[in-house]
Amino acid sequence: MRDPKLPKPPPATARRGAPTLAEKLRRHSPWLLLLWFALSVYLFLSAAPPAASPLRPTFLPRPRALSATTTSKPTTRPPVRIYLYDLPSRFNRDWAAADPRCARHLFAAEVALHEALLSYPSARADRPEDADLFFVPVYVSCNFSTLNGFPSLSHARGLLADAVDIVRRDMPYCNRSAGADHVFVASHDFGACFHPMEDVAIADGIPEFLKRSILLQTFGVHGPHVCQEAEHVVIPPHVPPEVAHELPEPEKAQRDIFAFFRGKMEVHPKNISGHFYGKKVRTELLQRYGRNSKFYLKRKRYNDYRSEMARSIFCLCPLGWAPWSPRLVESVLLGCIPVIIADNIRLPFPSVLRWPDISLQVAEKDIASLETVLDHVMATNLTVIQKNLWDPVKRKVLVFNRPLEEGDATWQVLRELEVLLDRSQRRSYVGSLRM
Ligand SMILES: *[C@@H]1O[C@H](CO)[C@@H](O)[C@H](O)[C@H]1NC(C)=O
Ligand SMILES: *[C@@H]1O[C@H](CO)[C@@H](O)[C@H](O)[C@H]1NC(C)=O
Ligand SMILES: *[C@@H]1O[C@H](CO)[C@@H](O)[C@H](O)[C@H]1NC(C)=O
Ligand SMILES: *[C@@H]1O[C@H](CO)[C@@H](O)[C@H](O)[C@H]1NC(C)=O
Repeated sequence: MRDPKLPKPPPATARRGAPTLAEKLRRHSPWLLLLWFALSVYLFLSAAPPAASPLRPTFLPRPRALSATTTSKPTTRPPVRIYLYDLPSRFNRDWAAADPRCARHLFAAEVALHEALLSYPSARADRPEDADLFFVPVYVSCNFSTLNGFPSLSHARGLLADAVDIVRRDMPYCNRSAGADHVFVASHDFGACFHPMEDVAIADGIPEFLKRSILLQTFGVHGPHVCQEAEHVVIPPHVPPEVAHELPEPEKAQRDIFAFFRGKMEVHPKNISGHFYGKKVRTELLQRYGRNSKFYLKRKRYNDYRSEMARSIFCLCPLGWAPWSPRLVESVLLGCIPVIIADNIRLPFPSVLRWPDISLQVAEKDIASLETVLDHVMATNLTVIQKNLWDPVKRKVLVFNRPLEEGDATWQVLRELEVLLDRSQRRSYVGSLRM
């Protein structure tokens, strides 16, 4: 029983004896309703999918190109409108004109995305006032070294900083959002950290002027990483779309190679400033399977290596300096099952490409059991995986066509940007500024 002499008497109702639960509910129902409503709204608004999760909320509309087998629901989300900055040609066109590799090599997504967006008026805002997002087209990976043919990234930060200065000086949009609605491509090993060695990349970090923007990057790992501490979308490495047409269709190819890998694979790996290339995984592959006749492992460059992939059942995709490699895309295009050996890697477009259905993942520490794993798949579910993989729709998802085609990589990027816009409420933020 309650003491009526308490300094703070309980509410009048309580003093008259304990009400039943039903009475309580009836009495408080307007408040409970309101509370329930507020809670629902809060839960709804905060139900954003975590950036690193491969699971997507079920309310996402399926891209039209992939919904042939399901009843396609029209998307309610307005299409994203992107304003493409017209920067001086020294930031982009000059590089592409100077060297044809610029538009074709593994980092060429920066060129391909720009050209694809230029070719696709329905995603473009002609006037910056109408834009949801702003694309800053800078080609930073086209300064090819005459020595090794790889692009030098030493100028990347400076070139981007110059571009951002121009964009800030000439127009109000970048200052207005502190860069939050500005989109950049960072297609190198460790994204916008601009260095191929992970510890240097981490020490350098993402330049301050990019940290609040949206980065389209090939680099992605599960969990936190300094080089993905910015809003970002994981994109596939660039592989020229023709690759898929130059060789027999995956369904018709003669696959006489069991497991294939061609690439840098040192017998005695050099310890470069405390690191072994690819964490020595490739060396271990060579040591364990170099003399195994089921494994076709080659260290020399060979221009026609893609025809070898088209002859293979399994294509090994071990990490290099970074977890991702163009082999991921090449394997899918050529119908060879990617065997991903890169712990923690986050793969592009998981909402449309169910990677576990079309690839295998083997942990870096499990190289010793690789053959057993592949033999087991061969004996059990090989045809299931091949059937999943040999789907032209999936091949399309990973290539940047110029001009853009519905369902291709640029198109998927636009869909992911729409999700991101809604999730981060950048759109409503920009919208409120526009009104
Ligand atoms: C291209 O790379 C080389 C080698 O790193 C460098 O010396 C040169 O300044 C770079 N060019 C530009 C235009 O940044
Ligand atoms: C944006 O901010 C920068 C740095 O504060 C300034 O120099 C520039 O003039 C501003 N741009 C515009 C268009 O006001
Ligand atoms: C690799 O080099 C670093 C120093 O650069 C050294 O501390 C480390 O012991 C070396 N590792 C091996 C296995 O040789
Ligand atoms: C195929 O079998 C392997 C090994 O048992 C398994 O890990 C994988 O998930 C299976 N994949 C599919 C698509 O059935």
